[in-house]
Amino acid sequence: MDTILVTIDDYYDLTQKQMIANAGEIIADGGLVAFPTETVYGLGADALNEDAAAKIYEAKGRPSDNPLIVHICDFAQVDEIAYDISEPAREMMRRFWPGPLTVIFKKKSIVPDGTTGGLNTVAIRMPSHPVARYLIESSGKMIAAPSANTSGRPSPTLAEHVYEDLRGKIPMIIDGGPVSIGIESTIIDMSGDVPTILRPGFISQTQLAEVLGEVKIDPAILAKTMQKDIEAKAPGMKYRHYAPKAKMILVEGESEKVIEKINELAGKDMEAGNKVGIIATDETRFRYRDGVVLRSIGKRANPDTVSHNLFALLREFDEAGVDVLYSESFFEEGLGDAIMNRMLKASGYQLVEV
Ligand code: TXA
Ligand code: MG
Repeated sequence: MDTILVTIDDYYDLTQKQMIANAGEIIADGGLVAFPTETVYGLGADALNEDAAAKIYEAKGRPSDNPLIVHICDFAQVDEIAYDISEPAREMMRRFWPGPLTVIFKKKSIVPDGTTGGLNTVAIRMPSHPVARYLIESSGKMIAAPSANTSGRPSPTLAEHVYEDLRGKIPMIIDGGPVSIGIESTIIDMSGDVPTILRPGFISQTQLAEVLGEVKIDPAILAKTMQKDIEAKAPGMKYRHYAPKAKMILVEGESEKVIEKINELAGKDMEAGNKVGIIATDETRFRYRDGVVLRSIGKRANPDTVSHNLFALLREFDEAGVDVLYSESFFEEGLGDAIMNRMLKASGYQLVEV
């Protein structure tokens, strides 16, 4: 299959709008289209068409018990696919949608098992990216979309990443440039007694608690070691994720000690003949030894830049062919939860504390 790349750099240009509408037709006909959202690129299909959803699993190589998020463009669509929606839940959606928040409710039978991996709940998100919104609107469908990467690889934050993973497997990729946030949406489960965050993201626990009162975070998510005994409730969270080809090790502690430790470990690896990569920050990038592949992930003082660059950086280290990758840690409140959740998974929970 040939994969067509369509560039949208001016959303108000009528020819470009028409190209998004053409992509909407592919979705309506049961096909797949990769598209930009404000979090990461998604791989979309008609959410209520089981055969279309099955194509997503095939293209990504994704286990079929891992449910998809249904993307909508209109608040009324929530009630078409979900029930038992509390007033605080509605207020939360009004506050944070469109935006990087996914909400789980009990599902109506109209949603096929092929979209929810057989679960009796459905995950719903209204993205804010104008291309995503117009794609959903013009398709006339709700769009099931996971991140548009091959299962297990870092999520795509550029159309080039999607092309790298899915070229030849899908008919169209819409290139809307780099995404703004860079990590996937916050997922909150509203189907149980207490609202529970299943995946941390840009919208924080504190922000959600302002609307909902009590909000729990699934304990497996913030644990510094892999929790085999506490099964994370989002089925996707149990799979190996974001994994770079290199062995990745996170170093956590006071900044000076972290730099010293990384330099020490990197030295040993280089002596053993390994190619070493280091994830530094703008604040620390000049403190590391020569001879390594060194990249800054952004400003520690501004965690938005860290989340924005994380996945692209992991792919860059793959390209550079490093054998071992050391990274500073970001256990700050708020966005730090989301960043460390991804980094711990990427490293297979290899964390050195100094
Ligand atoms: O930001 C995002 O959410 C992106 C963009 C494309 O919107 N999408 C995304 O989808 O990250 P995906 O499939 O890569 O991750 C969805 C996560 C998986 O861990 C999945 O297990 C969980 O959501 N999930 C989906 N439906 C669920 C449900 N009914 N109950 C529990 N977890 C669910
Ligand atoms: Mg994903």
